[in-house]
Amino acid sequence: MGPYFEHNFKTQVEGCDPPNAAVRKAMDALIHNGCQVHFGRWLIEGSPFVILFDINSAAWNLDRWKGDLWEACHIGLPFHDREANDSLILGSLIAWFFKELTDHLGDKPNVIAHFHEWQAGPGLVLSRTRKIPMATVFTTHATLLGRYLCAGNADFYNNLDKFNVDKEAGQRQIYHRYCLERAAVHCAHVFTTVSQITAVEANHMLHRKPDVVTPNGLNVKKFSAMHEFQNLHSTSKTRIQEFVRGHFYGHLDFNLDKTLFFFIAGRYEFSNKGADIFLESLSRLNYLLRVHKNDVTVVVFFIMPAKTNNFNVESLKGQAVRKQLWDTAHTVKEKFGTKLYDALLKGQMPDMNSILDRDDFTIMKRAIFATQIIFHPEFLSSTSPLLPMDYEDFVRGCNLGVFPSYYEPWGYTPGECTVMGIPSVTTNLSGFGCFMEEHVSDPAAYGIYIVDRRFRSPEESCNQLTQFMFSFCQQSRRQRIIQRNRTERLSDLLDWRYLGRFYIYARHLALSRSFPDKFNMDPKAPLKTEGFRYPRPSSVPPSPSASLHSTPHHSDAEDDDDDEPYNEDEEAERDRLNIKTPFVLGDV
Ligand code: UDP
Ligand code: G6P
Repeated sequence: MGPYFEHNFKTQVEGCDPPNAAVRKAMDALIHNGCQVHFGRWLIEGSPFVILFDINSAAWNLDRWKGDLWEACHIGLPFHDREANDSLILGSLIAWFFKELTDHLGDKPNVIAHFHEWQAGPGLVLSRTRKIPMATVFTTHATLLGRYLCAGNADFYNNLDKFNVDKEAGQRQIYHRYCLERAAVHCAHVFTTVSQITAVEANHMLHRKPDVVTPNGLNVKKFSAMHEFQNLHSTSKTRIQEFVRGHFYGHLDFNLDKTLFFFIAGRYEFSNKGADIFLESLSRLNYLLRVHKNDVTVVVFFIMPAKTNNFNVESLKGQAVRKQLWDTAHTVKEKFGTKLYDALLKGQMPDMNSILDRDDFTIMKRAIFATQIIFHPEFLSSTSPLLPMDYEDFVRGCNLGVFPSYYEPWGYTPGECTVMGIPSVTTNLSGFGCFMEEHVSDPAAYGIYIVDRRFRSPEESCNQLTQFMFSFCQQSRRQRIIQRNRTERLSDLLDWRYLGRFYIYARHLALSRSFPDKFNMDPKAPLKTEGFRYPRPSSVPPSPSASLHSTPHHSDAEDDDDDEPYNEDEEAERDRLNIKTPFVLGDV
């Protein structure tokens, strides 16, 4: 359920009649009262049904509904906050819909309504204060106040218990939004957050401890490339190398075969996303690579949408020149090939002095004229003239994603890297990092490097990040290939097919709390997933300090005559046998 936008409906939804009679009747009740409600299938995988409410068609009720909200919970909304007002209109329509629906359903079947984020809060608060007979769940993906406080340079995690939350919200002019969020949290039968770290935050910012943590999953099938992911890495990397050739045209003084590509991507929230400590660590990494005379070059991409006016002319020129050189080389190669072929057909060796003529030299001459960071201030797109790649292809072609976030309730970017078999850096302040720490015995061996930003000073975190990147740079190609195989093996853990069970648990709990006579559940019953851990990969030595690589300074050449063969399938099989806890896909 959500707001209706005509354009989105036309392009992303296939309108149809609701198959359920009670839903049809509830919709009709609203429609007969002048509101517009649309029903259809959302054109994404699984084609879920959607009920979309036209906010404009009901906006004339706003003042009355503000009064209702005030009556119900004494929260007033200022007229200038359009988003909050819209959320009230949507919420009023949804609560009205649920009233009609449950009236038509009688006492069977029972309804569970799961609301996400503060914008959905009014629907939940109004449903509860009107005592609509249904089970409710509220999930917050981040707290409003937490996001504000972190973005404002506060030493957030060390002062969680010291904030005067009402005052802080008031000072930031978000008091009414914060009240909506807090009211929804307290009205819900079951309250959940997306990670352990956000659970701690919510407990302090919203004063309720979440009942369940419902981590964010991925549709792994969409990313799954079976055994192809290594090849995809290779082909995407070639495309990034092409871009780099153009970008550094004229001063490409490094060996692309010994170049690693790192990247950070996401909202342009400089300190929340950890771009600050990443930059500082890169400068330290640069120093280490120099003093150790390491021949690796690291090219780093910052993919963060920021204000832009136009394409940088120099960057476009670099790409154009690279393309021109490629075309020229191709033309000369064709002519060369034809002459060579002709000579061979005549049974002669070609005359090397005349195989390139004056024209060839002229076009080639004309073509030749004229730790690096590339800031790409937009999300990626395959239609860009600069770096024409989709985000997914780009990620596949990189060697390491670096996401040293300070505020990251979940963080999809490192998870996406994982399912594509690309190692990444995350932190113990990100939901994803906490989740991996909990479920994987030696995350670094699987290519998940977790920076401690919670219990260490910024200086120490920065050094730790530098060390992670430095040891990554010391790995040989073979070690990187093995590590990518391991990283990809964690995919199942991030799949909705597995993580869906936390949602199911939360909903059962909500039913048992709202209809205790009908639904029985031991409130202390542990989740089926409790205690589950991926073992350390069997080929990794037991000491964690040696788990990255056993010899720090060795070259790819040495790797080639490694006499101990590595069999990835065997290792995967050994690990599977080691997993003793009930990790059964589809068992939800
Ligand atoms: N992303 C994208 N195009 C890009 C870069 C990033 O679509 O060029 C997506 C990425 O796939 C991810 C999302 O942006 O799903 C960022 O989500 P995350 O949870 O990491 O951070 P949030 O934006 O929620 O703070
Ligand atoms: C994949 C390909 C290999 C290629 C490698 C590059 O594994 O199958 O052929 O050599 O990627 O890995 P690198 O870590 O150097 O980018």
